[in-house]
Amino acid sequence: MHQEVALIATVSVGFVFAAIFGYLADRLRLPPLVGYLVAGILMGSYTPGFIADSALAGQLAEMGVILLMFGVGLHFSASDLLAVRGVAVPGALGRILLATLLGVGLSTWWGWGLGAGIVFGLSVSVASTVVLLKALEEHNQLDTVDGRVAVGWLIVEDLAMVLALVLLPAFAGVLGEQGGVEAVQNAGGLAIGYTIAMTLLKVAAFTGMAIFIGPKVVPWVLTLVARTGSPELFTLSVLAVALGIAFGSAAIFGVSFALGAFFAGVVMSESHLSRRAAADSLPLQNAFAVLFFVSVGMLFDPSILIREPLAVIGVLALIIIGKSIIALTIVLLLRYPVEMGLRIATGLAQIGEFSFILAGLGVSLGLLPREGQDLILAGAILSITLNPLVLLAGDGLQKRIHSLWPAFTAHYGKHKHDKLSREINKIRAKNEERDRQHQLEMQQLCDTFPMFSQVDENSQEELLLLFRPKSASPGERVVRVGDRGDGMYFIASGAVEVQLESEPVRLEAGSFFGEMALLSGGRRTADVIAVDFCHFLVLERRDFNVFMARHPALRLAVSDMAKERAAMNVSRRSRNQSLDLT
Ligand code: CMP
Repeated sequence: MHQEVALIATVSVGFVFAAIFGYLADRLRLPPLVGYLVAGILMGSYTPGFIADSALAGQLAEMGVILLMFGVGLHFSASDLLAVRGVAVPGALGRILLATLLGVGLSTWWGWGLGAGIVFGLSVSVASTVVLLKALEEHNQLDTVDGRVAVGWLIVEDLAMVLALVLLPAFAGVLGEQGGVEAVQNAGGLAIGYTIAMTLLKVAAFTGMAIFIGPKVVPWVLTLVARTGSPELFTLSVLAVALGIAFGSAAIFGVSFALGAFFAGVVMSESHLSRRAAADSLPLQNAFAVLFFVSVGMLFDPSILIREPLAVIGVLALIIIGKSIIALTIVLLLRYPVEMGLRIATGLAQIGEFSFILAGLGVSLGLLPREGQDLILAGAILSITLNPLVLLAGDGLQKRIHSLWPAFTAHYGKHKHDKLSREINKIRAKNEERDRQHQLEMQQLCDTFPMFSQVDENSQEELLLLFRPKSASPGERVVRVGDRGDGMYFIASGAVEVQLESEPVRLEAGSFFGEMALLSGGRRTADVIAVDFCHFLVLERRDFNVFMARHPALRLAVSDMAKERAAMNVSRRSRNQSLDLT
């Protein structure tokens, strides 16, 4: 393949293969992601035929993870994270610790050293974000209490892995049998302490920015862009914020792209524009998530299944059974229900992106044998493929436990679960209320000014952003004859009088004025005086020009009204003049 078109070839062949095998998998009643993995295996260097650039595919997969995490962040507020911390933090950390110990145990049995064992254990201890999210989405569980806990748990796991990735090189000298000279030098206690302190400091600085500065800056930027009314500029800005924050936080704070993107989403979720942002980024998110599975498949060497079948089974058992038992036990120890424990255990019973990154780093540091990486990949592919079955088995087990010990399953942990669900529901209700308020504002806009019903919802939203509120007291002159037109006024409440030579014309809520000077580019044709306490929505001249240019039908309606008014003024004037003459 020509190097110049490697990217195009990887993306296009990836999409074509994934579409074909995804469809076939669906026909075979398998989840489509099994098809995507197969597509990847066929495109990888271990199978004959087309070989895609695996480094490029890896980067494309990372884009998928970034967009996916961003999407989750959009539906996740900082309060959600805080609400689930009681389970998520001890659960994730406890499971990482125990699963890593299990990994060390298994690898010691295989005769590997401690360093290899720790890298291997850490790699199998962390679940795959992409797989969990896809499963939650598919089962409509992203918004449930258990879904929230699972995502929170995953975020803590991801954060812990960020720390592990940073610390691993520093510890390589101590752990590894073959650690390089540099690693040995780095391994001094002081250096390690410094690395830990710096990492924690960077993560803290990143979290601080995400919590305190982000929620002010990001919604402001989005509002600014939404006011331009350009749909492509809005989509572009959403992607720029997601990818920009992901890349920027990885470069500056050393956190993963995925974590940066997640916080970009969380920050954006504070804005009422988040729904539009989510809808805009969804198609890209879906497409790139597919490439994630393709790229995993590409790295896989199927011969490991024949070379070391027992080791593969061992890894798989650790990932599916070992990790699930650990998760379930922790959840039960924290006094939460069996059902929640099983959901979380089965939802997180696979490994994914972080495992590959860790394994890759382990190999490059000389800690993990190549074979370890192959085993981790095999474990990932198989556990991802089997995940839907594991989920089903979890449901079956739950029913079985319920029928065996109905009283236990009904009462155990119920109190804490109810409390958590009340808290999460409260957060959800607050977010829904915000959305409802916004919907109401749009509805009121159309009710008061029916002319706006003819523009689409995004444009109505844009109008709400463009309008400048203004009020006036009775007797106040709002528009002065002969002035230059600065804006068009929509009367939200109250009434005004247009002071015409003949007799004043009263305009009430739902009407507008000030359009004539804007349309003609000339001067105000009359004084307009408030005769009541008034609230106006003012569309400034520049915004008027841009908005009307985009909505010709609306412009026509306004200019028809202006013509009608002008004609009425002329006829009144001439009638008055003829009355004066007689
Ligand atoms: P403009 O000329 O910008 O400023 C004064 C406004 O008064 C004018 O736009 C119209 O919106 C409004 N106006 C003028 N004539 C009439 C009329 N006959 N009936 C209602 N409003 C009018």
